[in-house]
Amino acid sequence: MANSRFEYVKQFERENFLLPDTYIVIRVDGKGFHKFSEKYEFEKPNDERALKVMNQAALKMMESFPDITVTYGDSDEYSFLLQKKCNLFERREMKLVSTFASHMSVYYMYAWNKEFPQKPLDPSRLPTFDARAVQYPTFRHVRDYFSWRQVDCHINNLYNTTFWNLVIRGGLTGKEAENRLIGTVSSDKNEILFKEFGINYNNEPEIYKKGTVMVRDYVSSREEQELSERQLQRLEKQRRKANISTLHVDIIKDDFWNERPWLE
Ligand code: GTP
Ligand code: MG
Repeated sequence: MANSRFEYVKQFERENFLLPDTYIVIRVDGKGFHKFSEKYEFEKPNDERALKVMNQAALKMMESFPDITVTYGDSDEYSFLLQKKCNLFERREMKLVSTFASHMSVYYMYAWNKEFPQKPLDPSRLPTFDARAVQYPTFRHVRDYFSWRQVDCHINNLYNTTFWNLVIRGGLTGKEAENRLIGTVSSDKNEILFKEFGINYNNEPEIYKKGTVMVRDYVSSREEQELSERQLQRLEKQRRKANISTLHVDIIKDDFWNERPWLE
């Protein structure tokens, strides 16, 4: 860059480098998806094809950023876990967050156009995502973070399933359904679904109840910090090529994590 008397303005720029040796979780969330889902007439409570669009976008994210080891999402959000040693953008927070938000937005749009050619996107309501980065010092925190998101998915889905059955099949207005559900706990909602609509919540599709987890199934045999630059490059290539599994399983219990010790 040529020197000029204006260059001093650069000194005003600030950069936040995320702490080394900590887990980074970047969560993207659709902006105004309540309105977006109304505008494009999503099915209620769950639109299978809209979820497919989210999942395709998340998969593209994993393919583009090999530092992502696992990701979990439901509704209009996805949380990406970056490996502890990740040095993407030298761990610059603004670069990471803005890149994740913009990539998710364009991948979503690309997947949308493929899935819904008969529902072209209106330029006045395009899908966009925000992003935030959170750092966690231990894997216990990471586990609790993902448990938190999956519990949230479960609570929202049970509520929405009951709410929309009361409205669509029970003939209640939105307000009436809302009032009916005030103060109810999970077992009450299960009972409404079963007694009034013959629905056993346990038999609802796993993708709705549990959300979606994508995991890069590669195995790192040695501590990565001991590896030379060339070995690291090879590992990166391995990671890039690794198979990515898409699952709808419990990530609160130990099994998922015990089967994949390399995630830690
Ligand atoms: P901000 O994230 O704050 O911009 O608001 P938001 O409108 O995106 O709401 P939020 O992220 O809290 O929640 C996502 C919203 O998307 C839900 O409340 C639903 O209204 C909508 N949504 C997501 N998935 C589906 C779906 O499969 N079907 C329907 N009908 N709506 C969905
Ligand atoms: Mg949102």
